[in-house]
Amino acid sequence: MIIKFHKIFQNKKVLLLMSLQKITAKKLIEKKQKGEKIVTITSYDYPFAKLVDQSGIDLILVGDSLSMVILGYKNTLSVTMDEMIHHTKAVTRGVSNALVVGDMPFLSYKVDIIEAVKNAGRFIQEGGAEAVKVEGGTEICPTIKAIIDADIQVMGHIGLTPQAIYKFGGFMVQGKTVEPAKRLILDARNLQNTGVFSIVLESIPWQIAKLVTAAIDIPTIGIGAGPHCDGQILVIHDMLGIYKEFKPKFMKYFGNVGESIMNALNDYKSEVENGSYPAPEHCYDFPQEGVDEIKEWCDRIDIEDEAKKLL
Ligand code: KIV
Repeated sequence: MIIKFHKIFQNKKVLLLMSLQKITAKKLIEKKQKGEKIVTITSYDYPFAKLVDQSGIDLILVGDSLSMVILGYKNTLSVTMDEMIHHTKAVTRGVSNALVVGDMPFLSYKVDIIEAVKNAGRFIQEGGAEAVKVEGGTEICPTIKAIIDADIQVMGHIGLTPQAIYKFGGFMVQGKTVEPAKRLILDARNLQNTGVFSIVLESIPWQIAKLVTAAIDIPTIGIGAGPHCDGQILVIHDMLGIYKEFKPKFMKYFGNVGESIMNALNDYKSEVENGSYPAPEHCYDFPQEGVDEIKEWCDRIDIEDEAKKLL
């Protein structure tokens, strides 16, 4: 796909053409080997996914964060498999280049291995995703192996795994002392050896993320894990300033889209109320002689009787 964009070069607006290539898990691993940063983000619907894809971002995660930022639940535990598939379908309709990963929701993969493989398969077969993500360390390796044995690519997720917030006692930074930090390194190595193509590191000290990143050959994708990860991920509604109910330390607002939407809605409301919208340029026109004929017809007939004749 060719995308067009403008850049200012020596004070002139220059049109640039960029060709985007289909991203695969293999390409992400090659990026780590070449020292190129991997850029990833979440999306939950067609229009956002299309914009993200056109921006050249490498990977789109249909995150279970949609439970909070789209469905309005207080954490990620409430979203169901059917809801995840519904949103994954919408995302994949808008994507040609980025690698799309479906996030397996709470209880869809930790109860029963066969169920886990079937649910992972739904993301691929029904949702059109190319991989799935699961939360957990060494304890989840047998499930990951079964999913990979069914030819489904898997992304790992360690550190603060939001599906375990009640176990952690809240959205707490993980790996803050020596033994839990060592465990993160060992978990990452076991996930790699089981075959995951990449691992999300969430809310861990940057020095530990750096050690984890150095300990494995597959890319680490950080969120609240500092600059030494091979790539970064953010929740799109957070970084655009749409969802502002919770602002973790790592969050940077790259836009204020929530405020832009509010301004547009206020303008729309006042223009409708004061009659300045719709203006003549927003209206469809009809020849005046036809309007006169219809007016004359309305005056002549009984509209009620005429309408009943159609029933
Ligand atoms: O659900 C999600 O959006 C995620 C990312 C924060 C990694 O898991």
